[in-house]
Amino acid sequence: MIDSKQPYNEHPSQLIGDSPELTRVVWASRITASSDVTVLIQGESGSGKELFARAIHNDSQRKKQPMVTVNCAVIPENLAESMLFGHLKGSFTSAIADQQGYVQSADKGTLFLDEVGELSLPVQAKLLRFLESSECEKIGSTVTEKVDVRVIAATNRNLREEIKKGSFREDLFYRLHVVPLEIPPLRERISDLKALLEHFTHTLAQQYQVVAPNYSKAAIKALKEYHWPGNVRELRNLCERMTILLAGQTVDVDNLPVEIKTARQGGKNTLVSLPENGLSLEKLEIELIQQALEKTSGNRTRAARLLGLTRDTLLYRLKKYSLT
Ligand SMILES: Nc1ncnc2c1ncn2[C@@H]1O[C@H](COP(=O)(O)OP(=O)(O)OP(=O)(O)O)[C@@H](O)[C@H]1O
Ligand SMILES: [Mg+2]
Repeated sequence: MIDSKQPYNEHPSQLIGDSPELTRVVWASRITASSDVTVLIQGESGSGKELFARAIHNDSQRKKQPMVTVNCAVIPENLAESMLFGHLKGSFTSAIADQQGYVQSADKGTLFLDEVGELSLPVQAKLLRFLESSECEKIGSTVTEKVDVRVIAATNRNLREEIKKGSFREDLFYRLHVVPLEIPPLRERISDLKALLEHFTHTLAQQYQVVAPNYSKAAIKALKEYHWPGNVRELRNLCERMTILLAGQTVDVDNLPVEIKTARQGGKNTLVSLPENGLSLEKLEIELIQQALEKTSGNRTRAARLLGLTRDTLLYRLKKYSLT
C-alpha cells in the first residue's frame, strides 16, 4: 500500500533501489566519483545510465562545475567535429561566428558522452586524439587548447561486438573502458520494483496534484513477473499513466497493459515451449550456456548473470560439460 499523505523528497539524481545488484553498482560509482577516472556505463535502454552519470558527477569534486551532455546519437556526422571541438568564423560556409564546442564548455567539469557507440569512425578518431592528449583545436584554428574534463561515456550497445563488426575503434574502447559500470536490467533486480513504484507514484501524484493510486497485491505480483524490456523508464511511464487514469483508486491486474497481463498468464512470454517429441535438457543447457558466452564475448560474469546463475555455478557447469 502506498501512503500518498507521506511527504516525499525527490532529488533529481536520487537512485532508488536496494537490491544487491544495484547496490554493487552504486558502490562502484561512488568509489569512482572521487577520482577523475574515465567511466564507461553500459546497460539496456531505460536502465538508468544517465542517472548514474549524473550521480557520479554530483558526487565528484567537479560537482560545482558543469556536466555537459553530448547525445552522440543525434549529432549529424558532418557537424560532429565542430559541435565537439568548436570552429572559427568563416572556417566553413555556415560558420558565421566563432563557436566553442561541447568539449570546451565542459572545461573543469564533466563531459558526458551519451550513446557513444553511435559516433562515426572519423569522429571516433578525433575523440580518441583528444582523450589521449586533453588537447584540441577549433576547426579553422591552429591554436591548440588544453581542456580539463572528466569523461563519462554511456552506451546500450555491446561495444565488443561493434569492434568485431568494425564500427567501433578498439583503441577508443580501451580508452573509455577504464572503469566499466554495468547497470543491471530491471528484470534482474526485480526486488527494486516496489520501491521504484512507490517513488514514481508519489512524485508523479505530487506533480499532477492528484491522490496517488494504490496497487493491489495481485497487480504488484504481475508487475514483478513482467520482463520490462524498457526497464525503469517503462515502469515510470506506466506509473504516470496509472497515476493520471486511476488517481485515488486501486490499480488491479485488469487495469494493467495487455503485455503485462499476458506475461503473467505465461502466454506470449513463455520462454520456451516443449516440442511435441520432447528435448534433451542437457543439450538445451549447453546451448544456452554457449549462447550466453557468445552474447557476452566470453565474459563469464555477465554470461552467468544472463542465465540467472552465480559465476561459480556457471564455472561448475562449464567444467561438467567440458566447455572450458
Ligand atoms: N534507480 C533509479 N531510481 C530512480 N529513477 C530511476 C532509476 N533508474 C532509472 N530511473 C529513471 O528512469 C528513467 C530512465 O533512466 P535513464 O534516462 O538514466 O536511462 P538510460 O539508461 O540513460 O536510458 P537510454 O538508454 O534510453 O538513454 C529516468 O526517468 C530516470 O530518472
Ligand atoms: Mg540515456
